[in-house]
Amino acid sequence: MGAARTEWFHRPRGGRVTCSGADIATHPLLERVEVRRNERVAEGVGLLVLHAPRIAATIEPGQFVHLRISTGADFILRRPFSVHRASGETIEVLYQVLGRGTRELATREAGDVMDAVGPLGNGWRVPVGAAHALLVAGGLGAAPLGMLAERLAQGGIAVSVAQGAPTAERLLARDLFDAAARRVVVATDDGSAGETGFVTGPSARLIAEDRPDVVYVCGPEIMTRAVAAQAAAAGIPCQVSLERLMACGIGACLSCVVTTTSGRKRACVDGPVFDAEEVCWDGSELPPRH
Ligand SMILES: Cc1cc2nc3c(=O)[nH]c(=O)nc-3n(C[C@H](O)[C@H](O)[C@H](O)COP(=O)(O)OP(=O)(O)OC[C@H]3O[C@@H](n4cnc5c(N)ncnc54)[C@H](O)[C@@H]3O)c2cc1C
Ligand code: FES
Repeated sequence: MGAARTEWFHRPRGGRVTCSGADIATHPLLERVEVRRNERVAEGVGLLVLHAPRIAATIEPGQFVHLRISTGADFILRRPFSVHRASGETIEVLYQVLGRGTRELATREAGDVMDAVGPLGNGWRVPVGAAHALLVAGGLGAAPLGMLAERLAQGGIAVSVAQGAPTAERLLARDLFDAAARRVVVATDDGSAGETGFVTGPSARLIAEDRPDVVYVCGPEIMTRAVAAQAAAAGIPCQVSLERLMACGIGACLSCVVTTTSGRKRACVDGPVFDAEEVCWDGSELPPRH
């Protein structure tokens, strides 16, 4: 059964959730940003804190920044990263070290400067009248859900979290989820925290037991698709954040296509957050596996 068509209203921001019936248009800008902190938070995962006052002032949960990590030829293409948290004049990025760009990013130190374009893309939206949200995070999928959890809680919306990771150490952003959520259920592949297995076990249970008004998902696409199916079967609206290769980040190159029920869309400007019910899950547009 598909979820009933839902009226979505704008994103949670600044301690209140209001309904204007329209998206807030934020215009991306180019900003010279300074590294305030760059620290290892788990094996192969870093937390980058950037002084980015102009982006921090307008970014919404689920939006991303496009970072020019270095000036060399290998770095002509910017790399996209969700903003994990925005506070005052800083933004935080949780990143996994995978290839050349993120390896270089891990070497950046306090005081280093790079440039960022943002806020980019469409973030999470809150359905009218939602009182309870379930956030489902798989691995690095915790990154774009951190700020969402915080803003929903500030706006008086009850938050539950189902979180999965390979190991206890890779359960990212736990402090943020523990502070914002009234219930957090975790699963790890090796059983080192919570239950042993995939996050789809806890997500199915929380959907059935808590009957949230909305489900937000980010993680590996196979997991995202499975959770979207659980939400659809329960008739609960669901939004998913999708990852694609992104060259330009501004809608010009078509490297980030997502096939939807209303045609091909660009993840960088039409997403990265989509209504799950509009996504055609054929997997052919996925970024390469590392
Ligand atoms: C909207 C969005 C938000 C993201 N948020 C995060 C986040 O919060 N934390 C995080 O760790 N990662 C995130 N990613 C993935 C991140 O952009 C890639 O892991 C990163 O670009 C890899 O760069 P690299 O140079 O280390 O890898 P390489 O494989 O060496 O990169 C080579 C090229 O491929 C592109 N590329 C490779 N993998 C990806 C990918 N999965 N997605 C997009 N482009 C890719 C790079 O832009 C680069 O041009 C996000 C991706 C998108 C699209
Ligand atoms: S990254 Fe160029 S169109 Fe989306």
